[in-house]
Order: sequence, then structure tokens, then C-alpha cells
Amino acid sequence: MYKISLGVLCLVLAIILGNAMVVTGSGDADEMCVPMGTIMLEPLPGVEAKRTPVDFHHPTHFGFSCQTCHHKWIELDKPIAGCTTSGCHDVAEAPKPADTGSGDKELAARYYKTAFHNLCIGCHKEMQIQNKALELSGRVLKENLPNTGPTGCVQCHLKEE
Ligand code: HEC
Ligand code: HEC
Ligand code: HEC
Repeated sequence: MYKISLGVLCLVLAIILGNAMVVTGSGDADEMCVPMGTIMLEPLPGVEAKRTPVDFHHPTHFGFSCQTCHHKWIELDKPIAGCTTSGCHDVAEAPKPADTGSGDKELAARYYKTAFHNLCIGCHKEMQIQNKALELSGRVLKENLPNTGPTGCVQCHLKEE
């Protein structure tokens, strides 16, 4: 049914919507290639990085729906756009409080760092809170709690060797 090449899984979107899922390596415009390994998340161009880039293992997260992260992927016959696509999380500099203080949440979320931190740390933290509650309730043994992702800075931004 599918072919994996160079760590990506390519799907022809027009056909996903039909009955069969067909995969090619032909590079058509309506084809979407899903990274099946680690994606290196880096700052936007022009940002002087204070931290190391983040190795994000994409398939580890496939237990969640794609739209958990790709929240704009509504027209499923169009390929998924990257997070920092123009008009999305494309702001490289932290907006000044004066600009967001008036309640411009949209601008705040366009700052790519805020967007990533809210999404990534937000979910990991939420799961840790849920695990704590489950543990305290005594309904689930500690060793059976689901894995959560990291929330500590150097767990995502590994220290430089
Ligand atoms: C769950 C993973 C995760 C955790 C935990 C995390 N970050 Fe990030 N951070 C990211 C991602 C993803 C980006 C966007 C890609 C990039 O810029 O490297 C980012 C971007 C950044 C940036 C902007 C880019 C740069 O290098 O200057 C800074 C600064 C930063 N994080 C600092 C922190 C600090 C400080 C902490 C701890 C309080 C932290 N991060 C915790 C994932 C994480
Ligand atoms: C936990 C969050 C998360 C989940 C869940 C997730 N992805 Fe992703 N995905 C990402 C991130 C982050 C990137 C890197 C985007 C970037 O570089 O801007 C990415 C990249 C992609 C890309 C490449 C986009 C591009 O820029 O060309 C595709 C395609 C993709 N994902 C498909 C999927 C599919 C299909 C699913 C569901 C099976 C899925 N993803 C689930 C976070 C996620
Ligand atoms: C909806 C919840 C959710 C979101 C959003 C999410 N994660 Fe995770 N993440 C998890 C869970 C659950 C695990 C533990 C998976 C496991 O070990 O089985 C995890 C594990 C990780 C790990 C360590 C384990 C590994 O092998 O990769 C890293 C690093 C990580 N996440 C980074 C990120 C980054 C960076 C983002 C944002 C682009 C992100 N996560 C978004 C739920 C999430």
C-alpha cells in the first residue's frame, strides 16, 4: 500500500479521500511527504540562537491526531504546511508588550518561539499534571502511567558537547 523512501512517507492526497491510499515517489503537486524520522526544529532565519536546535521525533507523536499540531490542516486534499509558513508562526522577534498588551493574542502566537513552547511544553506539562492526578487517585500504578514528553530546557535544547 505504501512506500517509504529516505525517511519520508509520501501520500497522494487526492486519492486518500477516495477509497484507496496510494503512494508514489513521483513528486506530484498534490503529494504530501510525511517525515518519518527526526525533524530538526531550528530558529527562524535571522535569529541569533541562544539554545541548540531541538530534535523532534515525529512518529513518536503519531498517537495523537495530526490536527493536534497541524491545526490548520482542514482541507485534507491539500498538503500540510510547515509551522513557520508565511502568515502563520512567522514572527522571528518577540512582540513588545505594548503590542500584545492590548490583547493581541494572535500576534503573540505568531512569534514562533511562543507557538512552539505553548504547543510542545503545553502538552507535555498537561500530561504530567494528569499523571500526577492519576497517581494520587490510586487508580493507576505509577509504573503504568503513560510516558510524557520533557519540560526541562536542556531536555529539548540539548547542551552543546
Ligand atoms: C518540549 C521541548 C522544549 C522545551 C522543554 C523547551 N523548549 Fe525552547 N524551543 C523549543 C522549540 C521546538 C523551539 C523552536 C525551535 C528553535 O528555535 O530552536 C524553541 C525555541 C526556543 C528559543 C528561541 C531560539 C533560540 O535558540 O534562541 C529559546 C531562547 C528557547 N527555546 C529557550 C528555552 C528555555 C529557556 C527553556 C526552558 C525554560 C525551553 N526553551 C524549553 C522546544 C522546547
Ligand atoms: C506533536 C505534534 C505533531 C503531530 C501530532 C504531527 N506532526 Fe507533523 N510535524 C510536526 C512538526 C513540528 C513538523 C515540522 C514543521 C516545520 O518544520 O515547520 C511537522 C512536519 C510535518 C510535515 C512536513 C511539513 C512541511 O513543512 O513540509 C508533514 C507532511 C507532516 N508533519 C504530517 C503529519 C501527519 C500526516 C501527522 C499525523 C499522522 C502528523 N504530521 C502529526 C508536528 C506534529
Ligand atoms: C499532544 C501532546 C504532545 C505535543 C503537542 C508534543 N508532544 Fe512531545 N511528547 C508527547 C508524549 C506523550 C511523549 C512521550 C512519548 C513516548 O515516550 O512514548 C513525548 C515525547 C517527546 C520527546 C522525548 C521522546 C522522544 O523520543 O522524542 C521530545 C524531545 C518531544 N516530545 C518533543 C516535542 C516537541 C519539540 C514538540 C513540539 C513541536 C512536542 N514534543 C509536542 C506528547 C506531545
